[in-house]
Amino acid sequence: MKTHLACCFACGLLAAAAAPAADVHRVTVEPETVVSAASPDLWGLFFEDIDLSLDGGVYAEMVRNRSFEDGHGATRELTLEYWNPVGNAECFLSERPDAHPNDRHCVTVRGLPGVGIANEGYFGMGVKKGAAYRLSFALKGVGVKAVDVALEAYSKPPLATARIEGVSGAGEWQTFTATLVANDDEAQARLVLRFVPNRQGGREGLEAQLDHVSLFPADAVAGLFRRDLVDRLAALRPSFVRFPGGCWVEGDTMKDAYRWKTTIGDKWNRRTQWNIWKYWSTNGVGFHEYLLLAEALGAKPLFCINCGMSHKETVPMEKMDAFVQDALDCLDYANGPVDSEWGAKRAAAGHPEPFGLDYLEIGNENGGKDYEERYARIANAVRAKYPAVKLIFNNWKATKRVDDPKDLRDDHFYETADVFMSRLAHEYDESKGDFDIFVGEYAVTQGAGRYGNLRAAIGEAALMLGLERNQAQVKLAAYAPLFANAQHTTWTPNLIYPTTTGCFVNPSWTVQKLFSANRGAAVLKVTVETTTFETDVPKTWSKGRDRCVIETVQASAQRAANGDIILKLVNCAETAQEVDVRGVAGAATRTVFTGPDRDAHNSPARPEALAETVSAFTLDGADTLPPLSLVIYRIARSGN
Ligand code: AHR
Repeated sequence: MKTHLACCFACGLLAAAAAPAADVHRVTVEPETVVSAASPDLWGLFFEDIDLSLDGGVYAEMVRNRSFEDGHGATRELTLEYWNPVGNAECFLSERPDAHPNDRHCVTVRGLPGVGIANEGYFGMGVKKGAAYRLSFALKGVGVKAVDVALEAYSKPPLATARIEGVSGAGEWQTFTATLVANDDEAQARLVLRFVPNRQGGREGLEAQLDHVSLFPADAVAGLFRRDLVDRLAALRPSFVRFPGGCWVEGDTMKDAYRWKTTIGDKWNRRTQWNIWKYWSTNGVGFHEYLLLAEALGAKPLFCINCGMSHKETVPMEKMDAFVQDALDCLDYANGPVDSEWGAKRAAAGHPEPFGLDYLEIGNENGGKDYEERYARIANAVRAKYPAVKLIFNNWKATKRVDDPKDLRDDHFYETADVFMSRLAHEYDESKGDFDIFVGEYAVTQGAGRYGNLRAAIGEAALMLGLERNQAQVKLAAYAPLFANAQHTTWTPNLIYPTTTGCFVNPSWTVQKLFSANRGAAVLKVTVETTTFETDVPKTWSKGRDRCVIETVQASAQRAANGDIILKLVNCAETAQEVDVRGVAGAATRTVFTGPDRDAHNSPARPEALAETVSAFTLDGADTLPPLSLVIYRIARSGN
């Protein structure tokens, strides 16, 4: 596909990408030569419960440790973390022996008039002036007649207050709700509940037991998801959502592995679960809610199920029945009729229509012989019952073969920008095996800074061009990971960083958006005559160095469903490059994504520092690609 004009830099130990000499790079599109059909589902999302991406992220719950089931660190020793006593209150955890086994604890607050308890949320609660927030909680009060609830911030008058009357005071559980409307913007509010004593409580002191404390913005999508973050996802126009991991599916040990059946039904009865990414997950977004999120985005769900393997343990084959059953039942739950056992549970959760779960991945980053055996066991059972479901297997640790060439193979790439621009950009130019490919996780992770940067995003764009060119084999792809709360980044970089009041995005987000917005229906032949340059950088996952030969200008060309031709070019060099485009010409839109330098990124202080520019353009052969840029020409049907 490629012809190299010259190898300008055959030089040795360049630590970083040097600029090739000025040259004209010739890009020839053959609009009548269709290489293959495009994959309609090529670009999607990988949503892992990683780094507070759900709790503290897309899940709009603002109260942390809301049912007093969080453990201390990875232990099951329960904690009152994120709660603080108010007014000299004595606060301690108590048992609720009559409650569901996953929901056995609450807090007891004792003291004299004025006592209460406050929750700080996920690094403070962000509230917006004029916005409404729905509060609910369960209370058993002795000596209590009312509760004063408030959103407060230090050194400010209260942001919202309400008095909740009707507490029986006689010691029975009651549920209360209130709506709080904020009178100001605040990034660091907290929720305060102060207990108002009845006559007896005023004399002798009061005691309140509190549980299930919940605060949601009234505008949450489906009552569950932060609207601003869903908007960021919707802008990516994903065709599918892979969930819920990632390593989260595996867990460190089988005890912490993701088992979807523990994540459905009454939210208070779900397992509060230690997350491998170092926090407690409520599973408030469980299997059902992930399906709802995919539906809200107009995307196909792609569930990645545990295959009987965690990071450290493997379930013996004789105990695999439960895992096979989990796979069959998740499909029944998502797709089955309402009078089936699992379809009835879906309907009871408010969704009688099937979700259409057509992709099932068995395991995440599992490999070797143990994996092959477990994959075959689960896959055969699923194929027998659901032959139309597309199965996906892991490409990890020398997995040799699976049973059916119809299955997709999941490849993961975490590398330097240099490796993305060189080897990975051509990974699929020569077909590798009979399998369709799902590039289930990819990102430039080294040299990408804390919040991603321009060169990393351009490296990913080079890979994405290669995926587009090879859609005969590559059917699905997703960047990883999607979210990390800006204050909890055990993994960097991530695509979107929620803060308490909004979010900022990695430059990679813009690249993802532009590729998704500019999809084709047919892949066209494109040839690039370009220079190359070499870099020599440390290897990402092992000792040694990666010597990379990078083609300066890279391309993909497609015909869109409406007849437009979409030509995407990437300039991998840090100097502007002249191109000579042949084979297509005429009126176009020209979208350019670049930035001031390779390290350019967005941040909490400058959330929109990098953005694309779009302009009307007449493509007439010559153009100049800015340094480290993605340039997309959309040439109108009439002009080609
Ligand atoms: O995307 C972050 C992690 O990278 C995923 O959990 C895992 O699948 C991969 O190793």
